[in-house]
Amino acid sequence: MPFGDGETILDVTRRAGRQVPTLCHDDRLKPAGACRTCLVQIEGARRLAPACSTKAGDGMQVTTANERIDEHRQNLLALYLVDHHQGHDDCEDGAPCELHAMAAAYGAPTDWEPLPLARAERPNDDNPYIEFRADRCIACARCTRYCDEVEGVSAITMAKRGIETTVSTADALGLFDTTCELCGGCVAVCPTGAMAEKMPLVAKAPPERKLHKVRTTCNYCGVGCQMDINVDGYGNNGKGQVAKITSPPPGTLPSDGNLCVKGRFAYDFIDHPDRLKVPLVRNAQGELKEATWEEALAAAAKGLRAVEAEHGKDALAFVSSSRCTVEENYLVQKLARVAFGTNNVHQCAAT
Ligand code: SF4
Ligand code: SF4
Ligand code: FES
Repeated sequence: MPFGDGETILDVTRRAGRQVPTLCHDDRLKPAGACRTCLVQIEGARRLAPACSTKAGDGMQVTTANERIDEHRQNLLALYLVDHHQGHDDCEDGAPCELHAMAAAYGAPTDWEPLPLARAERPNDDNPYIEFRADRCIACARCTRYCDEVEGVSAITMAKRGIETTVSTADALGLFDTTCELCGGCVAVCPTGAMAEKMPLVAKAPPERKLHKVRTTCNYCGVGCQMDINVDGYGNNGKGQVAKITSPPPGTLPSDGNLCVKGRFAYDFIDHPDRLKVPLVRNAQGELKEATWEEALAAAAKGLRAVEAEHGKDALAFVSSSRCTVEENYLVQKLARVAFGTNNVHQCAAT
């Protein structure tokens, strides 16, 4: 099979349609060769080699599945399971545990005695969004590499050694006290649910719950990131509750599986009791009262014209929202320039 400069065995086998399982690999990250689930046999080599971090070479004969590889992978996965102290039923719905799915697919033994937990929990991290569950971590370093290579902030790192190896921060500080941007990418890439959202609104719902994913475009700014809204009770009289937001797989453009803190976590406005659903206009006593759109627009026009009459057109400024469409923002600048004759117009995403 022909291959390009720098391509790994994993790249080539995937192109050839062969299944090679991976846990620590992510196409957005440099290969780490940390988990060894992708081992393949290279003719003439004494040891099995990780497909994700071994470059393809001229004349290389690679076997992706045989008895030796299967046995090795089963034992490896069984070892991960004894270090991952959660049964499959405890894995979070909507974020399937890649480890359990792989162990089942490759017939790994599941009855090995669990290891005592030697990995320390992260002390007192009061950030509202992300928690680290040490008992589920298998030290694959996907989260720390993502934080470093994609997010570019290196807020988390692998710490300690051997069975105590864990994910930590400098001085074990809470994420708020680090360079963390709370993007949640570490949660998205974790293959075991060890990095997890703190705030799924219905996280404690019954296990038979099935979250329905709805692919949509984030409307917090003009980038157009793709996101999956995970809805509990979807189709229940047209209603459902948003349980969490997840990112589609890497390669989904334009966001390539990444989200920012707003896109991933700022969704509780959807059912918030303070959410404005109808226009409000102040009455003579200064109290906000429900109004029709016609009444609200008339009140806004009257107020704007009054400011213009008293202080001139450049006393007015129009601030639009990055949550509006391009067309809506276009109309706001038209309103400012044509109806009121001012260039004082802005919108935070500057689209
Ligand atoms: S939330 Fe983002 S920035 Fe913070 S630790 Fe995770 S990947 Fe790094
Ligand atoms: S938290 Fe998840 S992604 Fe990070 S090292 Fe542990 S298992 Fe891997
Ligand atoms: S996927 Fe290759 S070593 Fe982890």
